[in-house]
Parts: sequence; structure tokens; C-alpha cells
Amino acid sequence: MPEKVILVVDGQEMELPIVTGTEGEQAVDITQLRNRTGLTTYDPSFGNTSACKSTITFIDGEKGILRYRGIPIEEFTEAPNFVEVAWLLIFGRLPKRDDLAQFRDQLTANELLHEGLRHQFQHIPVEAPPMAILSAMLSNMACFYPGFLSLDDSDTFTEAAARLISKVRTIAAFSYRRSLGLPIIYPDPNLRYCANLLHMIFSIPYQQHVVTPEIEDALNLIFILHADHEQNCSAATVRTVGSSHANLFASCAAGVSALWGPLHGGANVEVLQMLERIHQGGMSAADCIAAAKARDKKFRLYGFGHRVYKNYDPRAKLLKQACDRVFATVDRSDPLLDIARKLEELALKDSYFVDRNLYPNVDFYSGILLRAMGIPTNMFTVCFAIGRLPGWIAQWKEQHDDADSRITRPRQVYVGPPCTAYVPIADR
Ligand code: SDX
Repeated sequence: MPEKVILVVDGQEMELPIVTGTEGEQAVDITQLRNRTGLTTYDPSFGNTSACKSTITFIDGEKGILRYRGIPIEEFTEAPNFVEVAWLLIFGRLPKRDDLAQFRDQLTANELLHEGLRHQFQHIPVEAPPMAILSAMLSNMACFYPGFLSLDDSDTFTEAAARLISKVRTIAAFSYRRSLGLPIIYPDPNLRYCANLLHMIFSIPYQQHVVTPEIEDALNLIFILHADHEQNCSAATVRTVGSSHANLFASCAAGVSALWGPLHGGANVEVLQMLERIHQGGMSAADCIAAAKARDKKFRLYGFGHRVYKNYDPRAKLLKQACDRVFATVDRSDPLLDIARKLEELALKDSYFVDRNLYPNVDFYSGILLRAMGIPTNMFTVCFAIGRLPGWIAQWKEQHDDADSRITRPRQVYVGPPCTAYVPIADR
């Protein structure tokens, strides 16, 4: 492994140090490049750029490895506990019983919305996109909880984190119920995190929704597998907004907007719509593969491919296994799961996908699993956001606590017009 790299600029040699990570990954430290050479680097979507040093999540894209604070995600599948993993990501170690009990109490104490926030649901069109509602409501939390805009002491930070993680569920459920013209169902303080969300989504007055252990485990697993993914688009957005010292609510609201995109968290909705089109005969699986390979790039095989994983996304593997377990308990199958399996089989035999290392990613099976729980397609990306929130909070805090952190401000290569004279409108 190189200890340094030498850059030669106009005959002058410049030694650039190497930063080496825990698992041996290496980065060229260019923090002094412009000062010493006047040069910047060009890497438009930062695919070759490490934006920070982080201790939160490790991904090995070639080997299909994902670890939270060093723990492989496979270790969380036995008795999946999303609140425990959220605490691990945010605070950097596995919680002791007291830590977990205290955090659970904070989540319970913060599960209701301020009535002023709740009333805002009355003025939102029923067809409003749930991700628009979620982003707006998270941002709005700054209006109703002004005491949590500067988070310099750990207790205030923990309380703000608990408010976000707890209320995001209530916001999601309320927006779902509103979209169906149903009465909202208040959270039940006696229920655990995931069971409470399912209660708020599916209960009706005087008839509490019964959550089976298998479904509760499956939802915990879904949220765990979505909880963090190092410097993905939405986490990088949260860091960028937080780098200006914007508050945690505003930073996470920005993360929701980034996640909404169909190339990122919105892909789970696109996957279901793609599978539905095949199921309804709109196109065959082979047509889908052919369309995805077409040069015009108008269509993608959603749920496939990844900037980092050039192997099977370990989350997709676990979600696919969870589908089998859940369908066994609900005692029914889903033709879309069979179609998904067929698509995967065709793609993984096709050189277009194999040559480009395109494998199923987290979004390929997550929607089928959520659908098995009765969660509608338009709530899939919101569920992704509920899972990802602890990761965004952890990333925001790591940057906030880093004394060397500076405001994010990339440079550019200007390719616009040279200096040009203004022409008065009379002469144009
Ligand atoms: C998530 O970053 C993260 O960690 C994200 C995430 C997280 O947890 O935060 O893992 C969650 O966002 C998962 C990805 C969800 N998105 C999708 O499923 C959308 C479909 N996938 C693609 O759009 C794409 O694979 C991306 C966006 C995921 C990755 O894009 P890249 O790294 O920029 O890859 P690329 O566009 O440069 O593709 C390289 C080649 C291109 O073909 P050529 O130019 O070489 O001919 O692969 C092709 C692409 O056209 N390609 C696809 C494809 N994905 C890549 N072709 C068809 N279908 C696809 N899905």
C-alpha cells in the first residue's frame, strides 16, 4: 500500500500524504493542493472523493460488507431491535439496559405531535406526496420546538434526537390516515416503537390493530437495514446543511428531500410500479431487461445497481430472506415477489448487468416486504426515511462534534463565457 503519492506540477514535485482507514482503504490527502499548486480536483458526483473521516458505518462494496459501528448487519437479524441500533449509531456503542430504557422513555414521552403541528394536517391536500409532508413537518419542528435549535449540550441533543425519531413515526402515520380520509389514531405509550407505528397506521377507533411478532420483527429489520449507509446522497445532504451550523431539524428535513429522488430512496416506489406493470401485462420481465439495457437510458431496472456495491447488496439478501418468512406467516404469496425473482435471475445472467456489476440493492425487495405488511406504495420512501433518520442524526452529530469541521463549499471549473460587456436593452 502506498505511503505517499508524488504529484509533479510544472516540473515541481509535491508529496501528498495518504490517509489510511481501519480496513486499509486509502485516500490521497489533497487538503493543501490548491494552496500549494493552485490546482483543484475534478470529481462531479464525488464518486472518487472521501468527504470526511467517519467511525459510524463501514461498507466494502466489492465484498458486499456493511457494518454499523463495526458490527456486521447480519448480527442484528436474530432479534431485530431498531431502537437499539438507532442508539448504537448515534452514541457509538451498544446501549446498556439503562440506556435503552431511558431512550425508550424519551421516545414514548415524545410520540405525540404539538397540536399546532397536528392541525396543519387539516390544510394539506389529501393527495399530497407523503415525502413532501414529511420534509415540511420535520422542518416545522423548528417552529414548535425552538429550544432545540442549538444543540451544544448532550442532553439537549439526545432530547432532540428522541423527538425526531419518535415523531417521524407519528407524522408518517398521520399523513397516511389523512390521505385516506381516516381519523388519526394516536400513539399508544404501551407499544414498542414498530408496533406503535403499525397501530397508528392500521387501528380504527375501538379496534386496536394486532401486530404479530413476525411482522413486528420484519419492520424492525427493515428499519435496521435502512438505518445508515455512510456518505450516501441524503446523508451527505444532511452533513452539507449541518456544516453551516443549521439545526438538526432543518438538516434532516433536507435529507428527506434528497432521499425522495427515484435514484435514491424513491427507487423502492419505482420498483413496485415496475413489478406491477409486468404483473398487469404492460410489459414482460424480458421487456424490462431490454428497456434497462437500451442506450437512451430512459428506463432503469430500479432496485438494481449501486454507486458503492459492485456485489450483491447485503441488505437485499436479508430482505429477500425476510420476504419468505413474512409470506409464510401471512400464509399467502405475492406474484410480485415471483416477478422480482424472475427479473433478478434474468439480469444476473445478462452480460450487460454482470459486466457493470449491477446487482439487487436495498430497494429491490424492501417494497415487497412492506406491501406484505399492508403498507401502501406511496409510504415506502417514508418508511425508508424513518429507518434512515438515526443515521442522519449520527452523521450530523459526528460532523457537529468535529472541531476540524468546516462549512461545505466545493469549488468548480468555470466553463461559461469570458468577461462580456453589458448591452443596454435598447441595443439588444
Ligand atoms: C439507494 O449511495 C447509497 O448508499 C444509496 C443507498 C443508501 O442506503 O443510502 O444504498 C440507497 O439509493 C440504492 C440505489 C437505489 N436506486 C436505484 O435502484 C435506481 C436504479 N439504479 C441506478 O440508477 C444506479 O445504479 C445508481 C443511481 C444506484 C448508481 O448510479 P451510478 O453509480 O452513477 O452508476 P452509473 O449511472 O454510472 O451506471 C454505470 C452504468 C451505466 O451504463 P454505461 O454508461 O456504462 O453504459 O450502469 C448502468 C448505467 O446506465 N446502470 C444501469 C442501472 N444502474 C446503472 N442500467 C440499467 N438499470 C440500472 N438500474
